Amino acid sequence: MSKLVVEGGARLQGTVGVMGAKNAVLKEMVSALLAPGRHRLTNVPGILDVTLMCEVLGHIGCRVEQGDHELWLVVPDQLLPEAPIELVRQMRASIVVLGPLLARCGEARVALPGGDDLGARPIDMHLNGLEAMGVDFELVHGELVGRVDGRLKGTEVELPFPSVGATENLLFAGVLAEGDTVIVNAAREPEIEDLITQLAEMGADISGGGTSLVTVHGVEKLAPAEHHVVPDRLEAGTYATAAAITAGDVTVTGCTPEHLRMELRKLSEAGCEVEQGNGWLRVRGPERPTPVDFATLPFPGFHTDMHPQMVAVLSIAAGTSVITENLYDARFRYVGELARMGADITTEAQHAVIRGVEQLSGCPVLAPDIRAGAALVMAGLRAEGITEVADASHIDRGYEEFPERLRALGARIERG
Ligand code: UD1
Repeated sequence: MSKLVVEGGARLQGTVGVMGAKNAVLKEMVSALLAPGRHRLTNVPGILDVTLMCEVLGHIGCRVEQGDHELWLVVPDQLLPEAPIELVRQMRASIVVLGPLLARCGEARVALPGGDDLGARPIDMHLNGLEAMGVDFELVHGELVGRVDGRLKGTEVELPFPSVGATENLLFAGVLAEGDTVIVNAAREPEIEDLITQLAEMGADISGGGTSLVTVHGVEKLAPAEHHVVPDRLEAGTYATAAAITAGDVTVTGCTPEHLRMELRKLSEAGCEVEQGNGWLRVRGPERPTPVDFATLPFPGFHTDMHPQMVAVLSIAAGTSVITENLYDARFRYVGELARMGADITTEAQHAVIRGVEQLSGCPVLAPDIRAGAALVMAGLRAEGITEVADASHIDRGYEEFPERLRALGARIERG
């Protein structure tokens, strides 16, 4: 079982580069399914989830060739329209193959992902939207079987919540549908905007990307394209919190600071000095952070995937912070691990009260998911003594060479 061993106390200093966004590249690999031929993606992060998505696409019939931060996806004319439970269980994001498979094959058999470490995570909005476009679903032995007679039909779909995954599945379904698909209350995340850019590069006709009203004018067919993946704002934000928690001075390059406006604003309110320019940001952490309240919300609100890292920072603040988690019902599972390190955090439903302590103390902890794993490493960087983060493979799902990059900034961290 993979483990990271962190010795606390070093102030992180220097420059770190970030790669393409996990939450964009996974969907951009899937959009290749929409057009037979050879696709190319650049700025691809070297993370475990990309490897898992290669397996999903391989199962469906694609050939994947990997280069240095590049991927070529060779998509055949005939696809096997299924994603079995072994693959979906390993990576929930596989559910977005539904849209492309229905569009290309008129059929999709995808295992129902069920809940995960962050909570129940239903997919009702995906299914209701696709049903409105003409798909019939049935659940057969834990597998969703979707069928559409002929082409998908464009229609207006109003999402009750701007779900990232549901917006993506509807985009995928809409690009090859007959007529217009209008997504009302669409997700506005930068990764969605980047996916829309890629689809346009493939010949799709989409307006309103980056707004909550997206209109997809269906076309007869799409062609393979080359696409450069948008920078990972979560990777950039995590290194920003590493500076904040260690009273360090870290410059992040290869990023888009405008995609982190709310998170950088909160770091600034917490006492960090934040500077930014075209493609870079610099964060200098205070000796001890100031308490800050925040609530997670869809973009452009505070990203739920930056919540645990920020809570790690606030756990050593000079005062009490209150945070509200609006997206996931089980995101606070890591709080017990932080408490083992001496953090004083009380949770009640979707709220957490964080009473800052002067010092954290290193101990063995368990990473329950990617971002919580990163947060426990952040806490370990500041704690007195040694922190051993077990189940660190979660971190490798979303961060390329995390310990190596932190070490280059002066952290004392090794794989155990
Ligand atoms: C994506 C990201 C994830 C991020 C999340 C929110 C990927 C691979 N994952 O996940 O890292 O935390 O966006 O920014 O890109 N919901 C429903 N019904 C649905 C769909 C969603 O109730 O049909 C709920 C979910 O349970 C959750 C909320 O809506 O509470 C947001 O989910 P969604 O935006 O769909 O997130 P994902 O696409 O799963």
